[in-house]
Amino acid sequence: MQNNYLLLVGKGRPVPTGLEPMLVDVFGIELERGAAYMLERMFEKARADGVELKALSGYRTKEYQKEIFDRSVRQRTEQGLSYEQAYEITSKNVAMPGESEHNTGLAVDIVTPQDFDVYEEFENTEQFRWLSANASDYGFILRYPKGKTDITGYVYEPWHYRYVGPYDARRIDNLDVTLEEYLGAV
Ligand code: DAL
Ligand code: ZN
Repeated sequence: MQNNYLLLVGKGRPVPTGLEPMLVDVFGIELERGAAYMLERMFEKARADGVELKALSGYRTKEYQKEIFDRSVRQRTEQGLSYEQAYEITSKNVAMPGESEHNTGLAVDIVTPQDFDVYEEFENTEQFRWLSANASDYGFILRYPKGKTDITGYVYEPWHYRYVGPYDARRIDNLDVTLEEYLGAV
């Protein structure tokens, strides 16, 4: 399957077998070709508006997603949580391997040029304000909005954008719904 930009991947909704996105390099990450093209246009427009964006993470292999998941559990147990607590918190923050939108090449984590990690206060930056006003015109939606954890399964992630194409992104934005709600999958 290719270029199904409304593909629903989430908790308990793994990447379909056989999905082999056509990946290209863009800003030091890999993204699906159509998403990458629009990311370039979006970053260009942001720069023209005086806002510098940085892509921190795009396509990830399932193996790499597993590393991220396992590392999060380990760090939380090292901070003193029980394995069960560490696992539960991690599973609200990090997708299981094969269940991450990053495994599709359609998701990108965007931060400021000064950032080397993601963090919730990103929502207070001019980069976030610019993205909130403009990302949907380039086909990207904020995938894990505030207060929607019950629906998406994940905490608020002001940095995680998902490519769905401009037509649907604008509709999702105007309706103020999650991808799950938009697709009637709740
Ligand atoms: N942080 C998001 C949910 C992911 O790991 O794909
Ligand atoms: Zn992400």
